[in-house]
Amino acid sequence: MEKLADALGVDPRWFTFGRPAPDHYPFQALIAPDFHPIQLVTELRNLLGGRSGHIDDTFKYLDPIGASQFQALHQQQDFADEIFSLPIRDIAAVVSSHLGDGPVDLLGLGVGTGDHEIRLATKLARHHADLRLLLLDVSLPLLAEAAQNAIKHIPRGRNIPVVGILGNFHQLPSYSFLDAEGPRKHLVTMFGYTFGNLDNEVRFVSNSLSWLSPGDLLLLDIDCITASSSEPAMIQKSDRALGNPPSWLSQVEEFLTGPIWRYGSGIRNISVTRTLDLLSSPVPGSYAIDIRALVDSTTGHKEFSVGYTKRYELRGLTDCMDKQHWRFLQHWPYADGRSMVCLFERRAPSVKRAGQKAGS
Ligand SMILES: C[S@@+](CC[C@H](N)C(=O)[O-])C[C@H]1O[C@@H](n2cnc3c(N)ncnc32)[C@H](O)[C@@H]1O
Repeated sequence: MEKLADALGVDPRWFTFGRPAPDHYPFQALIAPDFHPIQLVTELRNLLGGRSGHIDDTFKYLDPIGASQFQALHQQQDFADEIFSLPIRDIAAVVSSHLGDGPVDLLGLGVGTGDHEIRLATKLARHHADLRLLLLDVSLPLLAEAAQNAIKHIPRGRNIPVVGILGNFHQLPSYSFLDAEGPRKHLVTMFGYTFGNLDNEVRFVSNSLSWLSPGDLLLLDIDCITASSSEPAMIQKSDRALGNPPSWLSQVEEFLTGPIWRYGSGIRNISVTRTLDLLSSPVPGSYAIDIRALVDSTTGHKEFSVGYTKRYELRGLTDCMDKQHWRFLQHWPYADGRSMVCLFERRAPSVKRAGQKAGS
C-alpha cells in the first residue's frame, strides 16, 4: 500500500484507511537557545568600526537585503546551472545504502533556501520511512524561504516532518534538543560551499561535529583546486576567480560588501580585490581565494576580508578528515570538475593503549 501511495504521490494513511491527508506537512520552526541575532548585528557594527578584520559568513545573510541578494544570485541562470548540476540522485542512492533501516535525521547546516536538502530528503524518504529533515540556518529570511520550498516541493505522500532551526552552526554541540527523540542516525550536510567559507574548517570539524556517533554520515559540497598548491603561478592562471571571473562574480562582490555599506558608517567608496592565499588553509593541499574590500570612509582607509573561498585537493582533505575520525566513502565531481561532493562516515576513535601511539 505504501508503495502504491508513494507512486501516486498521496498520503499512505489516507490511501489505506481513508483518513484525510493534511494539505501539506506542517513546517515547524525552532529558535535555538542562546541565539541572539541582534547581538550579532552589534558584533558586526563593532567590527566595522575598526580599521580591519574578517567579516564572517554568519553576518552576511542575516538581514532581508543580504538574503535577497543571495537568492537573486542563486536564481541567475549560469550560476544556477552550476549548482544544480550536483548529482543528487547518485548521491542519494549511495547515502541510502549506508543509512541502514532505523530512524534518520537529515541535518542540513547553513541550508539557505534548502533546495539541495529538500531534494535529497525527498529521494531518501522512498527507502527510509522514519526520516526527519532538520534545516539549520542563521538567517530568518532564508529559513522562511526554505519553509516555503519544503511545503511546495515535498510530495504529500512522503510524510517527512520538516523542522527549521534558527541558530548558529558554531554552537551545534549545545543543541541537545536535536536528540530529544532518542537515538537516530544522522546525515549531516553542508551544501553550497559553506564548508570552504569557514575561517578554520579543521577546527569546525573537531569542535562542532565531534559529538556525532560512529556510523553517522557527513556530506561536504566543496570547490576543487585548479592546480597544485605548490604551483602558485599555475593557480593564478587557471583559477577563474583570479584570472577570468564569470559574470556572476560581480554580483557576489556586491553581496559580500553589502554589510559594510549597510552597517558601517561614513562609507564613501569600496573597491574589491581577490588574492591567492596559500598560508591560511589548514587542510593540506588546499588554498584559498581571499576577497578583500578596500574601504574609503570619512574616518580614513579600512580593509576587510569579506569572503574566503577554499579549494580542496581530494587526497589532502580525506587524509585530514581521517585524522579526525571521518572515514572517506565516496566523492562526486560536478560542474566540469570544479566542485565535488564528498561523503564521510564517522568512525570510532582507535583506543590508545599505554606505550602505543594513537592510531597505530
Ligand atoms: C554559501 S550559503 C549556502 C546556502 C545553501 N546551503 C546552498 O547550497 O545554497 C551559506 C549559508 O550558511 C548560512 N550560515 C552562515 N553562517 C552560519 C552560521 N554560523 N550558522 C548557521 N548558518 C550559517 C547562511 O545564512 C547561508 O544560508
